[in-house]
Amino acid sequence: MTLMTMLGAVQLGAAAACLVVLIPVVMAGWHLSRNRMLLFSGVLFITLAVCVHFTPYFPSVSDFVTSVSSVVVFDHRSSCINLVNEISWNVMPSVSLQRFNATHNISSSLDLYEKRWDWSKSPKLNACDFQKLSKSDASDLLNGSWVVVAGDSEARFFALSLLNLILGAQTQRMDSVRTDLFKRHSDYSIFIDEIGVTLDFVWAPYVVNLTNSMMGFKAKRNYPDVIVMGAGLWHLLHVTNASDYHFALRVFKSSVVSLLPFSPELGMNGPLIGSVSVKSPHLFWLGMPMLINGMLNTQEKRAKMSDAMWHAYDRALGDSRLLRQTGGPLVLLDIQSLTWNCGPRCTSDGMHYDAVIYEAAVQIMLNALLIESHQSL
Ligand SMILES: *[C@@H]1O[C@H](CO)[C@@H](O)[C@H](O)[C@H]1NC(C)=O
Ligand SMILES: *[C@@H]1O[C@H](CO)[C@@H](O)[C@H](O)[C@H]1NC(C)=O
Ligand SMILES: *[C@@H]1O[C@H](CO)[C@@H](O)[C@H](O)[C@H]1NC(C)=O
Ligand SMILES: *[C@@H]1O[C@H](CO)[C@@H](O)[C@H](O)[C@H]1NC(C)=O
Ligand SMILES: *[C@@H]1O[C@H](CO)[C@@H](O)[C@H](O)[C@H]1NC(C)=O
Repeated sequence: MTLMTMLGAVQLGAAAACLVVLIPVVMAGWHLSRNRMLLFSGVLFITLAVCVHFTPYFPSVSDFVTSVSSVVVFDHRSSCINLVNEISWNVMPSVSLQRFNATHNISSSLDLYEKRWDWSKSPKLNACDFQKLSKSDASDLLNGSWVVVAGDSEARFFALSLLNLILGAQTQRMDSVRTDLFKRHSDYSIFIDEIGVTLDFVWAPYVVNLTNSMMGFKAKRNYPDVIVMGAGLWHLLHVTNASDYHFALRVFKSSVVSLLPFSPELGMNGPLIGSVSVKSPHLFWLGMPMLINGMLNTQEKRAKMSDAMWHAYDRALGDSRLLRQTGGPLVLLDIQSLTWNCGPRCTSDGMHYDAVIYEAAVQIMLNALLIESHQSL
């Protein structure tokens, strides 16, 4: 036996050993809960590192190891943030409709359909293990936090959904929240003493109002833990100028980047200011809903809020590089895809959507928060 063939035999043995170790570990991974996924990824990485080290001269094995490596990189839950908006809908005539008879009174067309949603099913998404958080899970996650939701009526619906979840939809307290929150065009604040959570809703129909809010936090050197922001429809209706919207978004983005104690390049766990580590807020952008032009309730809206203009506004958002997916600081809550997939049965006026859309958006945010804060349930 020459030295070369001996070496070859040793490598082949090592490669075989690696496969024997790897395959059960990979298979076990699919059954692990989220809490153990990080640890699991670590173990798999070490195994892979050893394998890669021992198998450099085996192209086919190296290929295999490389392809498994990409699975591992995926398993690291931080990449799940890119998939958190992948929701699918099941919109069906509701049971009450099937029992419909002439003595029934149809007060709202929304009640005619039952809308169920869940994260789409695919191996990648299953590995992320997204879950609908219960009242107590959400309370644990937000315990002691200051949450700010700023924007137009969509943001108001989002705030309502979040409070519905943490206070319980059928409670007396929620009845008074609904009344106060929906006083037209005003701010709202609530302290939930059981879990030490403050939620502020800031009426900010234009992007420039969001910029002003950011300046306010900076001036007080006091930052919320979570900020959810979004504005577009008011500008679309009252200004109807996509390049002006783009300009406002650029200004807003630089206010976010420069005013917060971190820069996106440094990641979310920013630098130290003085000797105190400043915790950076978790930032979300509440996207614009799809508009169904024919359903809009005034002639002015149908004329100004055209599909072409909507798309120009959407492009302005992309071009502003505000969102994480374009290298910016904010994580998108993709109302566009939620409303598009839920469809015309989920809106009564082509613009304001059913509460279930915002319920899904709240769950998307909470799951993103779990990933961002490296927590598990
Ligand atoms: C129609 O609906 C009413 C109210 O729910 C119910 O009492 C009645 O039995 C129904 N009639 C038929 C024919 O199903
Ligand atoms: C049906 O509901 C509408 C609005 O809620 C109400 O004005 C109307 O009187 C109701 N009709 C009957 C027959 O109950
Ligand atoms: C919130 O956190 C505090 C302190 O960390 C803890 O004592 C309390 O039990 C928590 N409350 C809930 C509802 O989780
Ligand atoms: C938002 O900005 C507009 C335009 O600058 C301004 O007219 C309006 O008063 C602002 N609204 C609030 C609530 O700050
Ligand atoms: C749109 O806004 C831009 C930037 O503010 C401005 O220069 C332009 O004149 C506006 N266009 C129209 C048609 O008003």
